[in-house]
Amino acid sequence: MHAQEATTELGLANRRIILGVTGGIAAYKSAELIRRLKDLGADVRAVMTPAAQEFITPLTLQALSGNPVHTTLLDTEAEAAMGHIELARWGDLILVAPASADFLARLAHGHGNDLLSTLCLAARCPLAVAPAMNQAMWAAASNQANMDLLQARGVHVFGPAAGEQACGDIGPGRMLEATELAQCTANLFPHRILTGTRVTITAGPTREAIDPVRYISNHSSGKMGFAIAEAARDAGAQVTLISGPVHLPTPDRVKRIDVISALDMHQASMDALTQTDIFIATAAVADFRVENSHNQKIKKQDNSGPGMTLTLVENPDIVAAVAQHEPKPFTVGFAAETRDVENYARQKIERKNLDMIVANDVSRQDIGFNSDQNAVTVIWKSGQQLMALASKTQIARDLVTLISEHYKNTR
Ligand code: PMT
Repeated sequence: MHAQEATTELGLANRRIILGVTGGIAAYKSAELIRRLKDLGADVRAVMTPAAQEFITPLTLQALSGNPVHTTLLDTEAEAAMGHIELARWGDLILVAPASADFLARLAHGHGNDLLSTLCLAARCPLAVAPAMNQAMWAAASNQANMDLLQARGVHVFGPAAGEQACGDIGPGRMLEATELAQCTANLFPHRILTGTRVTITAGPTREAIDPVRYISNHSSGKMGFAIAEAARDAGAQVTLISGPVHLPTPDRVKRIDVISALDMHQASMDALTQTDIFIATAAVADFRVENSHNQKIKKQDNSGPGMTLTLVENPDIVAAVAQHEPKPFTVGFAAETRDVENYARQKIERKNLDMIVANDVSRQDIGFNSDQNAVTVIWKSGQQLMALASKTQIARDLVTLISEHYKNTR
């Protein structure tokens, strides 16, 4: 998606929704609801009560959500895969739709006699319910008292709508339509600056093989690029992280592609371009590779003279190639320099046709390569901003804010 097309607001991007389905004829609408939640970018896991399975099968919800469906509390196999406490922690929201009168009563009174009610007790995330029942049941004093209790505790109540019911009655009690429910769900989450935007980041070093056991590389740890990936994700972006060989865990909810050499990183970056609105090149890519790397380990005695000569050839410039691409993503480079840092960075922004460059003085021991902190000057065509010494996490957050402001001006 190019800047002009990036108008679809994925209001649930990076959000994890536990969809609780209880027994009621409206359970068939849960299938459609999963689709609508996924359309808005959510990752959905369905939890069904035994009664819900009388109306719709777990297989249907599994196929639509792309995740296993959770049905029982006391199933050792299911608990081994993802225990109920882990599942409770996984969700950003529990949405129970449809919520039957019986389930609402159990919820109001703190029961934990099936998986869904136990999850609701164990979860610390917000809870929303979409009641669905006959209009007389909805109006019953006991049900209304339960609803008052739930609302007083901060449970979000979506609907119900009024109209013709499956039993032939007319009145309030119908579950809201899937599209409305998905929108109500999205409205619970604050808008984030990069919602609906796809960000690709390169990170870490590349390794250029000399032979199967030796390589040319550099000191990049990947910390700066990984911190940017987390900050972009937290800003609502869909993040792809193309990483050279590093010893860092993959950030949660980030798509990671591991590469070794500059040629691999170039290929992965080009492949990602159709899914990229903003490209951030943090990686320390080797400018050269060995022309004919050996298939077998080079032996000392293979060389006739006292020394050894390696012929190096230039690697493709990945960020420059990205900036040549049509449509061009908003392209941000880094400049790692040991002297005259800003001046060289300004030359690179021009030469590589970048929208922005982050000048990094790597002559200092306390910042840059492999450090947990950094200090940078961000330069664009009509201005610049200093980011003083801070953790890479903080620098990454400030960078993502600045990049998103400039990116939005180009839309
Ligand atoms: O990984 P850490 O240990 O946290 O360290 C972070 C860092 C110091 C690596 C990072 O902050 C940084 O400065 N990255 C840029 C490193 C670099 O290679 O800079 P450069 O000036 O040589 O390259 C300029 C830009 O071109 C960079 O965006 C680089 O990713 C890109 N490039 C360079 C060569 C090449 N063949 N392809 C490229 O895309």
